[in-house]
Amino acid sequence: MTEAERDALTSQMTQALGADAVLTEPDDIARYCRDWHGDVTTGAVAVLRPNSTGAVSEAVRLCARLGLAIVPQGGNTGLVLGGIPDDAGRQVVLSLERMTAIRRIDADDFSAVVDAGCVLEVIKQAVEAEDRFFPLSLGAQGSCRIGGNVSTNAGGINVLRYGMTRELILGLEVVLPDGTIWDGLSTLRKDNRGIDLKQIFIGAEGTLGIVTGVALKLLVKPTQVETALLALAGVEEAMALYRRARRDCCDLMSAFELLGPEAIGLAQIAHPDLPNPMEGSHPAYVLMEMAGTGLIDIRALLDRFLEGALEEGLVLDGVVAASRAQAAQLWRIREGMNDGQAMLGPHLRTDVSVPLSRVAAFVGAARDAVARELPDCRSVAYGHVGDGNIHFNVLPPQGADAATAAARIKAAKALVNGVLDGFDGSISAEHGIGRLKREDFEARLKPVQEGLLRALKSAIDPDGRMNPGCQLTPP
Ligand code: FAD
Ligand code: LAC
Ligand code: ZN
Repeated sequence: MTEAERDALTSQMTQALGADAVLTEPDDIARYCRDWHGDVTTGAVAVLRPNSTGAVSEAVRLCARLGLAIVPQGGNTGLVLGGIPDDAGRQVVLSLERMTAIRRIDADDFSAVVDAGCVLEVIKQAVEAEDRFFPLSLGAQGSCRIGGNVSTNAGGINVLRYGMTRELILGLEVVLPDGTIWDGLSTLRKDNRGIDLKQIFIGAEGTLGIVTGVALKLLVKPTQVETALLALAGVEEAMALYRRARRDCCDLMSAFELLGPEAIGLAQIAHPDLPNPMEGSHPAYVLMEMAGTGLIDIRALLDRFLEGALEEGLVLDGVVAASRAQAAQLWRIREGMNDGQAMLGPHLRTDVSVPLSRVAAFVGAARDAVARELPDCRSVAYGHVGDGNIHFNVLPPQGADAATAAARIKAAKALVNGVLDGFDGSISAEHGIGRLKREDFEARLKPVQEGLLRALKSAIDPDGRMNPGCQLTPP
């Protein structure tokens, strides 16, 4: 695009949307075109920042008139390059960062309606002030925005009790690719009037429209939360403990996270002050949380559960947090693992899932494959195993040059996905497809499935203007 063409576009955008809604200077748009880890930087024609649903609609109509494709963006914490433009530099980023109103919280209706640009943490705090609870919890919750959570169908640490984002959404407001506003902001719990349209936008990663408003399902704020870090002999034992916890504690268990032997060391790279809560190192750890309200005695339940697990020899050692502050320290190990790995440089990050009954076998097979085929790399397996979801990451050798690291990451991806295919697994349990996993996704699509996906896309976005190149290669 020439300088003159760019100037003409900028002046049309500014005229239609107002100067504060349009960014075009390279320094201003750079952060919208860089992924969370800073591994990938692209470019854009402009960043549009509308501050109302009407203004989003206006921006979408304008882009249609100018023939520009749109990449919606929330908090830009996505891990699969779905929220930043491709590297051609001809797309427009539409950021929801100025749409941050909490439209209403209705405690008696156990619901809230919010703008799509609200930061998840802000929503959680606002509903807690009304004695309500929005259970979606993930490491990026201080930055990610609810429209991004909806569009990725985000998971996180509490899925095993409360479900993915999809299960926490009652209604949506969406600006469609032609600028029409669909008002589906109902808070009804049960509504079977035909096909549930909101479901097609959840997990669509911005390829079908722009989510501008979200009706959320709220729960009662837990009054008792207990957290324990337990040491075990391996992943098989962790999954046996999970089955026992399901039996004994039923739905009161709110998190069951696997950590590998390297967890504390990795977290300490990011947080050198973080103490090892147990002596020595163990082959596996489980970070477990139980939560309850009202008359339920969660601490007594956890103590009795752990007594049984210790007697059976499943748990080798453990600490139960004595305070909220101590619980936060235990969670810092889990969250610090991501930061520690990032500080070691580019690596393969996955968010695979397998059937619950096959988690231990998958982790064993994938670890063996890496040790055999890529002996200079290190594998790190952790995550939401209560949902069968494992972050099986592979770190290239420390000190490797960029080309060697990239070659190892590529080889590791093919290796892990190959093992996963043998377990009927999914290459994306929670982060989505974006641009990063498009090829691997398409390679595994069945013809009928691909036909349906493409028919849906062309029915709703016939000109292919919404996030082209995300999820599917454009026709
Ligand atoms: P963005 O990154 O801005 O966008 C993500 C996708 O949604 C893009 O395709 C974008 O085009 C689209 N999009 C964004 N907003 C809209 C909108 N309003 N309308 C239409 N499309 C839109 N994810 C998990 O699932 N579980 C985890 O445990 C987890 N932990 C994380 C921890 C860290 C430290 C980090 C950095 C990320 C983590 N993530 C996790 C990934 C990420 O936080 C989630 O995918 C999150 O839901 C993205 O929200 P966002 O607002 O940042 O979206
Ligand atoms: C997590 C992110 C990476 O669970 O999904 O830490
Ligand atoms: Zn995760």
